[in-house]
Amino acid sequence: MKVIIVGVTGGVGVRVARGLTARGHQVTGMVRRSGQASSLEREGIAAVVGDVATDAVETLANFIRGHDIVLFTAGAGGRDGPEATVAVDGDGPAKVVAAMKIAGVNRFYLVSVFPEAWRERRMDEDFEQYMVEKKKAETQITLTDLDWIILRPSALINEPGVGTVDLGLAKVHEEIRRDDVADTLIALMERPEIRRSILEVTGGETPIADAVTALMSSGKAS
Ligand SMILES: NC(=O)c1ccc[n+]([C@@H]2O[C@H](COP(=O)([O-])OP(=O)(O)OC[C@H]3O[C@@H](n4cnc5c(N)ncnc54)[C@H](OP(=O)(O)O)[C@@H]3O)[C@@H](O)[C@H]2O)c1
Repeated sequence: MKVIIVGVTGGVGVRVARGLTARGHQVTGMVRRSGQASSLEREGIAAVVGDVATDAVETLANFIRGHDIVLFTAGAGGRDGPEATVAVDGDGPAKVVAAMKIAGVNRFYLVSVFPEAWRERRMDEDFEQYMVEKKKAETQITLTDLDWIILRPSALINEPGVGTVDLGLAKVHEEIRRDDVADTLIALMERPEIRRSILEVTGGETPIADAVTALMSSGKAS
């Protein structure tokens, strides 16, 4: 598979890139600063310099052309203010989908967020805006005719992966290791018959391959 990752320098993105490369897939990462490209390239990951918030759709299409899959795991993370949250988390996925249509690529994976996402613990204005933007993006993706998967991970942590998860249509929001989210995304990409579904994933006891296979056998994904 040839996969291009928007958000490749992020915690999930770099893990997916490394995991796919180790499994013999070809990966391109979109980076915002040229200095980030060389460290990726040392790991066998191609890089293009781009910015989903400011690049034209046609520019993004030129990056995407020739790939089989686009993974969008970028997020403004509240670091650059509410405008960046709109441009990246809210409008970014649909902009990338518009670019995919120009480029003739139809498999799209979006890393999103659980709607509840510990809002009982934290309900400040920035976080609520982030949640609204994430949901807006999901809604736009579900209206496309692409082969999309929206994966909502619970709270992300950096401890080493354990290779097991709890994956399905609706899960209780807890925590999950970024390594395990990355391996779940790779396992889903390797099963193209699983498509057009919103899935939730959190830490759990089921080996990732079995969790993905169970989606098929239970008819939870088409
Ligand atoms: N944190 C959590 O607990 C949590 C829980 C559920 C879901 N999520 C979501 O999961 C996804 C992955 O999270 P993460 O922690 O791996 O992310 P992260 O480490 O914060 O990385 C974010 C990535 O987005 C990129 N990015 C930001 N603005 C961009 C732009 N304008 N154009 C292109 N790329 C841009 C960053 O690039 P730079 O290196 O240039 O900044 C970085 O690669 C995010 O969408 C996040 O919202 C997070």
